[in-house]
Amino acid sequence: MLLELENVTASYGPVQVIDGVSLSVPDGGAVGVLGANGAGKTTTLRAITGVVRAGGEIRFDGRSIRGMRPDQVAALGIAHVPEGRGTLGDLTVRENLRVGAYLRRDRAGIARDIDYCLELFPQLQDRIRSNASALSGGEQQMLAVARAFMAKPRLLLLDEASLGLAPGTAKSVYGAIRRLRAESGIAMLVVEQNANLAFSLVDEAVVLETGRSVLSGPTEELRTMDEIRRAYLGG
Ligand SMILES: Nc1ncnc2c1ncn2[C@@H]1O[C@H](COP(=O)(O)OP(=O)(O)O)[C@@H](O)[C@H]1O
Ligand SMILES: [Mg+2]
Repeated sequence: MLLELENVTASYGPVQVIDGVSLSVPDGGAVGVLGANGAGKTTTLRAITGVVRAGGEIRFDGRSIRGMRPDQVAALGIAHVPEGRGTLGDLTVRENLRVGAYLRRDRAGIARDIDYCLELFPQLQDRIRSNASALSGGEQQMLAVARAFMAKPRLLLLDEASLGLAPGTAKSVYGAIRRLRAESGIAMLVVEQNANLAFSLVDEAVVLETGRSVLSGPTEELRTMDEIRRAYLGG
């Protein structure tokens, strides 16, 4: 397994908000994290990246990363596309992509990967000299994904990439992420409230309820379960 969480817990101050999250992501695999608002999805990603302090076990590539600082976790090859996108508004699209590659020294590889991002997200090509803050919501989400890819990660953490986007835009963002997955082999942990979009990308998923993982299984199995259909698939 590339990433393994075993009984992970995390708190904000005295308030424990995740309380036993277990999941694993195989090398090159993609796993969804479903759950209602407030279930602890974002906090789970923050526990992995070291932004919040966690209990339990978090292993990446066989070694414990629990307690590491965010920069150390990033250096191991874990890139995070946070909720709300987190692009740098005062920098241009090209500068954002370069910032994503800040730990890399392979100049030719960086140039090649910038070209690849612009092929994957052609809208960004037209906006390459624009400040990120001038982009539409969909373009900012594309830039956030592209920027994370520029780090050449082994694992991408995606937090609600569809949030606030028109349905057609969300679909096209997920289409590009699907292609990125197929062509790069980067493993993905995909937080989504829109289960249909998540299921279009992932092989399996975990359901969180009030800070615990309560159910997991292959996408095809979850799709057919009544409780999943009612809660996350609109019927
Ligand atoms: N910075 C914070 N300080 C205190 N409580 C927080 C903070 N962020 C989130 N929470 C609380 O933690 C719980 C889980 O939140 P979160 O992980 O953001 O859920 P999700 O991403 O599934 O919507 C919620 O009850 C939320 O109100
Ligand atoms: Mg969230």
